[in-house]
Amino acid sequence: MRKEIVLITGANGEMGHGLIAHLGETKKYSIVAMDVQPLDDSLRPYCERFIQGDILDLMLLGRLVSEFEIRTIYHLASILSTKAEYNPETAHRVNVEGTLNLLRLAVEQSSWQGRPVKFIYPSSIAAYGLPSVAAKEKAGKVKEADWCQPITMYGVNKLYCEHLGRYYTTNYRQLAADHNKFTVDFRSIRFPGLVSSVTIPTGGTSDYGPEMLHHAAQGIPYSCFVRPDSRLPFMVMPDAIKSLLMLEAVSREKLTQLVYNVTSFSPTALDFYNQVKNAFPKAVVTFEPDMARQAIVDSWPADVDDSMAARDWTWKPDYNEKRAFDEYLIPSIKARYS
Ligand SMILES: NC(=O)c1ccc[n+]([C@@H]2O[C@H](COP(=O)([O-])OP(=O)(O)OC[C@H]3O[C@@H](n4cnc5c(N)ncnc54)[C@H](O)[C@@H]3O)[C@@H](O)[C@H]2O)c1
Repeated sequence: MRKEIVLITGANGEMGHGLIAHLGETKKYSIVAMDVQPLDDSLRPYCERFIQGDILDLMLLGRLVSEFEIRTIYHLASILSTKAEYNPETAHRVNVEGTLNLLRLAVEQSSWQGRPVKFIYPSSIAAYGLPSVAAKEKAGKVKEADWCQPITMYGVNKLYCEHLGRYYTTNYRQLAADHNKFTVDFRSIRFPGLVSSVTIPTGGTSDYGPEMLHHAAQGIPYSCFVRPDSRLPFMVMPDAIKSLLMLEAVSREKLTQLVYNVTSFSPTALDFYNQVKNAFPKAVVTFEPDMARQAIVDSWPADVDDSMAARDWTWKPDYNEKRAFDEYLIPSIKARYS
C-alpha cells in the first residue's frame, strides 16, 4: 500500500514556511515536501519526508508516483517576477515546464486512484498587465477576466499555467474514449504581494513593502525602488495560507471558476512607509525608483475584485491594514529581531 500524502513543492519558500507550519500543527496530514534548496530545520519535524530536488527532474517525480498516493499537490515552486526577468528562459522552464511535470504527475496519480487529485496553484496579480498608470487608476478593482496582458515572463508563465490547469481539468485527452477518467482538480488563486513576519522575500517585485519593514526592524537603511504613490494590493501570510486551505477544502460543485482573486488591503508605498515609521521611528527609508521595476509595478492592478471567492467559497481576509500591522507584522517582527 502506498502512503496517502500531501505534496508541497517549493517547500522552503515563504509560502511553504507558512503552509507547512500550519498543516503540520494540525497533525492531520502526512506531508512530503520538495525543494531544490535544503529545508529549514524548523520545518523538518512537520514533514514525513523532505526531498531535495528539482521539479524538472522527471526521474525524481516518477519515483514519487511509485512511492506515494498523493491526494493534494500544493505546487508552490517558482522563479518569481524580478528574478525571472534576469533569466526569462530559465524561469519559463521552471515555471511552465515544471508545472506541466507536476500536472502530468497529478494525472497519473488520478488514474491510479480513480479519483481526481487536487492541484492547488498559487498564481499572481502579475497575470494582469495594465497599459498605463492612467488605466491603472481608472481600472479600480480588477476582475479575473480583465486586463490579462502581462508584461513579465513570470506573469506570462502564471497566466499560461492557469490555462494549463484548466486544460488538464476539463479537456485532457478529450479525443480519447475514456478521457473523463484522467482528470485533475485544478484550483488557483491570484495572490497579491505577500508579507510575512517569519521570512524575507527574494526575487519578487512587490518586495519593497516587506523589505522596508524587515530593514527598519533591524535598523538598516532602506532604499525603496518604487515611487511613494505606487499602489498594489497586499496580504499577510496567515491570510494567504487561509485562502489556500479554504479553496482546497471547498467542494468542486461550488466552484464557478478555476482561478480566483483574493486580497486584503491596497496601500501605497507611502502608506507602507508611514506604518513602518510609526512602529520604528528611527527607520531610514528613501525613495529611489528603479524605472524598470517601477514599470512592472505600474502594470499591476492597484486593487482586485475578490467577490467571486467571497461568493463561491466564503472567502474573507482576517486582516485589514490596521490589524495586519498592529497585531501581526509589527509585534512578531519586533520579537524576531529583538
Ligand atoms: N510571495 C509573493 O508575494 C507571491 C505573490 C503571488 C504569488 N506567489 C506565488 O506563490 C508561490 C510561492 O511563493 P513564495 O513567496 O513562497 O516564493 P519563494 O521564492 O519564497 O519560494 C519558491 C521556492 O521554490 C523553490 N524552487 C525554485 N525552483 C525550483 C525547482 N526547479 N525545483 C524545486 N523547487 C524550486 C525555491 O528554492 C524556493 O524555496 C509561487 O508560485 C509564487 O509565484 C507569491
